[in-house]
Amino acid sequence: MSVRLFLRSENFVKRRGNNISYFCRCIHSLVRNMKYVKLSQTEDLMPTLGLGTWQASPEVIESTVYKALDLGYRHIDTAFNYNNEEAIGNAIRKWIDNGKGTRKDLFITTKLPHVGNRASDVKKFLDLQLKRLQMEYVDLYLIHVPFGFHCNPETLTPVVKSNGEYDLDMDTDHISTWKAMEECQKGGRIRNLGLSNFNESQITKIISACTVKPQVLQVELHAYFQQLDLRKFCSDHDIVVTAYAPLGSPGAKDHFVNKYNYSPDAFPDILGHPDVNEIAQDHQKTPAQVLLRYLVQQKVVVIPKSTSEKRLKENSDIYDFELTPVEVNQLKKIDQGEEGRIFNFLFWKGVENHPEYPFKLGSAIN
Ligand SMILES: NC(=O)c1ccc[n+]([C@@H]2O[C@H](COP(=O)([O-])OP(=O)(O)OC[C@H]3O[C@@H](n4cnc5c(N)ncnc54)[C@H](OP(=O)(O)O)[C@@H]3O)[C@@H](O)[C@H]2O)c1
Repeated sequence: MSVRLFLRSENFVKRRGNNISYFCRCIHSLVRNMKYVKLSQTEDLMPTLGLGTWQASPEVIESTVYKALDLGYRHIDTAFNYNNEEAIGNAIRKWIDNGKGTRKDLFITTKLPHVGNRASDVKKFLDLQLKRLQMEYVDLYLIHVPFGFHCNPETLTPVVKSNGEYDLDMDTDHISTWKAMEECQKGGRIRNLGLSNFNESQITKIISACTVKPQVLQVELHAYFQQLDLRKFCSDHDIVVTAYAPLGSPGAKDHFVNKYNYSPDAFPDILGHPDVNEIAQDHQKTPAQVLLRYLVQQKVVVIPKSTSEKRLKENSDIYDFELTPVEVNQLKKIDQGEEGRIFNFLFWKGVENHPEYPFKLGSAIN
């Protein structure tokens, strides 16, 4: 049950006499059980499990989101670039219209695209995305990537030059873009603000100039790429970390197959790692559940994507067991550091020449 739903629940109403202490105890227990993390500044509770929706076509994602909501998911992660916001909006609208819950029970994240990464475009894209999602507000709005491309105004896709290189917008300015997002938040159309794929020095620059500090950072994070330094930095600044590709993105290999800079052998099989499988057997859980639990147990939010009902259930069944300190240490050891990175965005030809390209080159998968 979401916190907002809980407030209207029978138990809460019955105990009106000492509501405040009862409420505090319940919130404490929800947070302690790792089902939610509290965001800075707004104190909104963000579910530690969300549904990822990248690589899910509109036809498939509409029924998937509806199914996921029925199974208890309350947090959905999408983006302008996933081309599925409208289908997700349809699913949520139907779920609400069928009396299964209200908008306030849900936590919806979407992202400002690379082609809109400039102050003058923030409102335009947010308006369009809210319209597609059929919502008055999103719970979290992230700048998807720190670099920007010039936009084809008809298709709202990046301009690509005749040599295949992406037409980089060299004037990307994070501070002015962030301030434009703060304005939208003041207007109530964004509840919380965050970043995705930014590095430490880019985040530091925003923190030093902003009014509202970034509340969430969404980055690639899984057992082979545990991002310990970046997570420590985020914890020091009260920024919640969301792990994308928490299972190692097994579907990415097929997605990238015809892309520039692709090497299929370089894709990891974290689900097949012997230590992960051994721990899974010991707990009578699956490798995916162990990988997700490992992160949630460390207060990292996870957003695994699946369109299969069986795996949706499996991925959400991670709150009834705990990894021991020995198992946690065992999994810490399979971290490959920078070598474990899958998403370096080099499939966008020429992107590394952008002044805000965030990663060190030479170690990530090409
Ligand atoms: N901010 C960014 O730049 C960024 C980048 C990448 C991703 N993301 C977000 O993060 C989400 C998750 O990342 P991701 O989709 O790349 O990778 P992921 O969640 O690590 O892996 C998804 C893949 O694993 C399969 N899968 C799901 N559950 C499974 C299970 N229990 N056992 C075995 N296989 C399973 C899925 O196939 P089925 O669907 O067939 O189950 C799918 O192919 C995305 O969907 C997106 O919302 C953000």
